[in-house]
Parts: sequence; C-alpha cells; structure tokens
Amino acid sequence: MSDTTSTYRSLNGIECGKALRAQIARRAQEVLKERGTVPHLVAVLVGEDAASQTYVGSKVKACEEVGFRSTLLRRPADTTEAELLEVVAELNADAAVDGFIVQLPLPKHIDEERVTLAINPTKDVDGFHPQNLGRMMLGLPGYLPATPNGIVELLKFYDIPTEGRHCVVVGRSNIVGTPMSILMSRNTYPGNCTVTITHSRTKDLPSITRQADILIVAIGKAGFITADMVKQGAVVVDVGIHRVEDASRKSGYRLSGDVNFDEVAPKCAWITPVPGGVGPMTVTSLLLNTLKAAQT
Ligand code: GUN
Repeated sequence: MSDTTSTYRSLNGIECGKALRAQIARRAQEVLKERGTVPHLVAVLVGEDAASQTYVGSKVKACEEVGFRSTLLRRPADTTEAELLEVVAELNADAAVDGFIVQLPLPKHIDEERVTLAINPTKDVDGFHPQNLGRMMLGLPGYLPATPNGIVELLKFYDIPTEGRHCVVVGRSNIVGTPMSILMSRNTYPGNCTVTITHSRTKDLPSITRQADILIVAIGKAGFITADMVKQGAVVVDVGIHRVEDASRKSGYRLSGDVNFDEVAPKCAWITPVPGGVGPMTVTSLLLNTLKAAQT
C-alpha cells in the first residue's frame, strides 16, 4: 500500500487576504468617521528595479481597494543617501502620514541599515526597525514584519494547529526567517511550536526538513525544496517567488517558489500556491499595520 496521498489543501492567500481586507475596509471607514481622514500609507521607491516596481504597485493598489490613501514617492537610482534620509525625515515629521515604507533593496551606494534606523518606529509599518523587532522578541505591542505576520494570519485563517508542532524555518534573513522563527515559538496561537531555524551552513538539511510538521521556506532559490525533503502530511509555506524560463508559456516564463510544488504538494496536508499564497498576505499585513498606525 502506498503511503502517499494526492489530496492537499491550498493555503490560499488570495481568499484569506480578501476576507481580511473586507474587515480592514470597514475599519478604515470607522477611522474616517472618528478623525476625518482615512489611513495614509506612503511608499518610497528608489530606482527602477523591476520586481520592486511590481511589489510597490501591488501595495498602492491594495490601499485603493480598502479605501486607504496612498502616495508613491519615486526617486531616481542616483539619489544620494543624504537625500533619501531627508525624505525619511520629512515623512517622520508629516502628521498627514500614518506609516511609510522604503522599498528594499536600495541601490548599492545607500546603506539600508542607516535608512531603516532613521524611520520613526511609530511609522515603521514594515516592522523592520530594531525597536519593533525588539518589541516582537519581548511580546510587546508594535509593528510585526509584514511577511512573517502574513504567514501567521494565513495559518490562523485556516485553523492550522501549531501547538507542540515542530516548525522548521529554512532561511535566516532579518525580514523573514529570523522573525518567523520567533513568532512560531511565542506562547500564543499560532505559535507554541518547537522551532528549528536552518540556513546555508546547516548540515544534512533534508534530514531536518523531513522532521517538520510545519515547513516555512524563505531561502531565495527556485524549486529548492524537493519531495524527498518533506514529511508526509506536512504543512508547507513557500515564501519564494522567482521567474523561471518556460518555453511552453506565451510569456516565456512561469512563476516558481522555493518549493518544487508539483512534486511536493501531493505529500502535503496544506501548501501555499505560488503565486497566490504568501505574496498577497504580505501586502494584507502591511495594510493591517497601516490601520494600526492610524488608530494609535
Ligand atoms: N523588499 C522585499 N520585501 C519587502 C518588504 O516587505 N518591505 C520593503 N520595504 N521592501 C521589501
């Protein structure tokens, strides 16, 4: 008898995002009634990076959908660090701005850390400032980083049990892997997992990923997780998104995550599609943070 199954369920970020955004839209109208203006998000985009333009475009569009005000500030690729810090200082001081983000990556000549540190933590709706990351560590109120929080919201929406489960996180970036590991180990739901964080120096990664009840992958390599690395019945969350050449498509490419979906999905209880899984949740999470900024 085969121990494999082909019935997996989709952790659908479009469906979950839609439900959360309907609530956010109602709350935006309450903010309007209370203070006379809707929540206002500003996105700063430096340069012409194609992926960044797409991401920022979807953030602005999402604001429109929920009735927020949004402003996109574009600056050329040769903007100096001092000029960008001036923009940050102006946004910090502007009472008409509830929250803002500086889209990453920045051009090489600008120090991302210096820019992140310059953002007023009370307007840091990306949750990247050390003060917000520290507050998250301590379980204090603050802004949670968008992608990890979006994943938490997705697990909650689909009632995925987490307590006592082994959660393996692949990737230790400051904006996804590391905060994700902290959120999954918190004493709350979703959380209370036993968490293992893995990275490029981890020895025999497949032997560890195979122990995961919940596998969260943010390694930035297309199709990196293969079927042999996943336990039967696992919950798999794929943060990656890559353009992969595909001659059979009219566009010449298809989108792929860090997980080889076709071979991994049949082993899963739940898995995020790419696109339509984590991506829409990251944007929804940014809206949640902006709403919070407007209410405080
Ligand atoms: N680049 C990739 N993801 C993000 C994000 O969530 N926020 C910002 N500001 N830049 C990013």
